[in-house]
Amino acid sequence: MAHSATPQDLVILPRDRRFARGQALPRWWYAGNPWRTAVYNALSATFPKGEALFIQSVRQFRHCADARLAREIDSFTAQEAAHGREHLSFNRRAMDAGYDIAPLETILEQRLARTREHPPIVALADTIALEHFTAIASHQNLARRNAFAGVDHDIAALWLWHSVEEIEHKGVAFDTWLAATSHWGRWQRWLVRSRVMLHVSRVFVRDRTFGAIELLRQDGITGIRAWGPLLWELWGWPGMFRRALLPWLRFFLPGFHPWQQDDRWLIGRYAERVADERV
Ligand SMILES: [Fe+2]
Ligand SMILES: [Fe+2]
Repeated sequence: MAHSATPQDLVILPRDRRFARGQALPRWWYAGNPWRTAVYNALSATFPKGEALFIQSVRQFRHCADARLAREIDSFTAQEAAHGREHLSFNRRAMDAGYDIAPLETILEQRLARTREHPPIVALADTIALEHFTAIASHQNLARRNAFAGVDHDIAALWLWHSVEEIEHKGVAFDTWLAATSHWGRWQRWLVRSRVMLHVSRVFVRDRTFGAIELLRQDGITGIRAWGPLLWELWGWPGMFRRALLPWLRFFLPGFHPWQQDDRWLIGRYAERVADERV
């Protein structure tokens, strides 16, 4: 029987905050760096519709959950709904700053349409794969001391808030998956989630990279001037994708669970920063 490593005393706390409403977003809001800004804008462009898919794919297996997991699913829903709302607002401000994110949304909608053609359990497998990415990126955002250096306070606060809630609920989709597939064999469960992870990873890396390239094109940055610094940004330094490689590989271990890495100390550190009104 597959084992959940979710801590017994874990608290999933929807914070429902609002960020920087009505404030103009500088075009290159990430430290005046167009490549870094493009990476984060390309991520944010996918969040409202992506998080809606996560909510839907987890909730349709809520009937498989015990009372505790059902409560966690409700907290997960509240957190993801607030993330979608805040990133919708953020994306509107990126558009006001001059970006057209419609081409990125069109590609995402094509991906989501393909997902809807599959049985619901595949959408749940997609979700555990993408939630693993989110947990890895969130850990990076919170653990790196100089993450969001040179970013306006309220914008950094949005990304840090999102990151902390992603860590908090990183086991919910996975535990739902374990409950929904409890009648499967271990091997079948491992095979399906591993195959889905490989597929999702290919699509994710390709789509986010080309999404960033499209936004850079809108900045008038093309060819080697776009690709060189962008690939260095993702795979060199700070290397969001490079740093993700090792934690990504852990997903393929038989018996993997997101809470085998207990990184709640990052949540504690965030709470201290909030108390000091630093984020
Ligand atoms: Fe989220
Ligand atoms: Fe999430």
